[in-house]
Amino acid sequence: MRIVIQPDAAAVATFAAMEIANQVKSKPSSCLGLATGGTPVGAYRELIRLYKSIPISFANVNTFNLDEYVGLAAEHPCSYRRFMNENLFQHIDIPLEQTFVPIGDAGSLHGECLAYEERIRSLGGIDLQLLGIGSDGHIAFNEPGSSLASRTRVKTLTQLTRTDNARFFDSIEQVPKSAITMGIGTILESRSILLIACGAGKADAIAAAVEGPLSAALPASSLQLHPCVTLVVDQAAAAGMKRADYYRMSEAERARLEQL
Ligand code: GLP
Repeated sequence: MRIVIQPDAAAVATFAAMEIANQVKSKPSSCLGLATGGTPVGAYRELIRLYKSIPISFANVNTFNLDEYVGLAAEHPCSYRRFMNENLFQHIDIPLEQTFVPIGDAGSLHGECLAYEERIRSLGGIDLQLLGIGSDGHIAFNEPGSSLASRTRVKTLTQLTRTDNARFFDSIEQVPKSAITMGIGTILESRSILLIACGAGKADAIAAAVEGPLSAALPASSLQLHPCVTLVVDQAAAAGMKRADYYRMSEAERARLEQL
């Protein structure tokens, strides 16, 4: 796992946007896996800024979002579809029909989950998956205890996740109790993964994901199984890692080798 410790959230956003832009530049028909939540907002803002300042096109890109709340229609102000349209898609040249977010109010939720998996497969799989992390170590909406082999399905949200996400709603009662989420097995099939985390509230989860045991109790620890993960954190989110000095040294050595 490559661990990059940045001075602050702005630097995390810049790093993430550059990674996504480089992926699209090297493969214009990339399939991107995208995330929602507070953390990726800065990265999307920076990606939009890059889009306006360098020659890059998303016209041939397909995107798959990690998850969507069950019961929320696309037009709902708190739906992840709406979040993505407003924070990214409407600012770049990606055709909306190439952007996929699970349909939270589908007639058959099970059918939607199967169709989502099939769509990812039929478009060749995800090249780069962007991830955030929940304060309890969840990725997408794979709550603690999720099978490490899980596929896209409906998952009940924990009280902690509903409380953490209540800030996007008028009240906690309005936060849906379940969501459609890509599974951990689905996420691990991505060719590369970029996890971003900022703030002291993520420090314990990050330390456990990187340095703790591999366990379904902490879904992000499953990334230890993946051969191509980059984890980008700010100082506050890095504070719980015991080997932070080593990770800083590794990045310095990596930069030195790149100069040769
Ligand atoms: C939600 C999303 C996750 C995200 C997490 C953390 O639970 N389903 O994909 O990583 O929130 O979000 P934030 O970045 O707002 O802390």
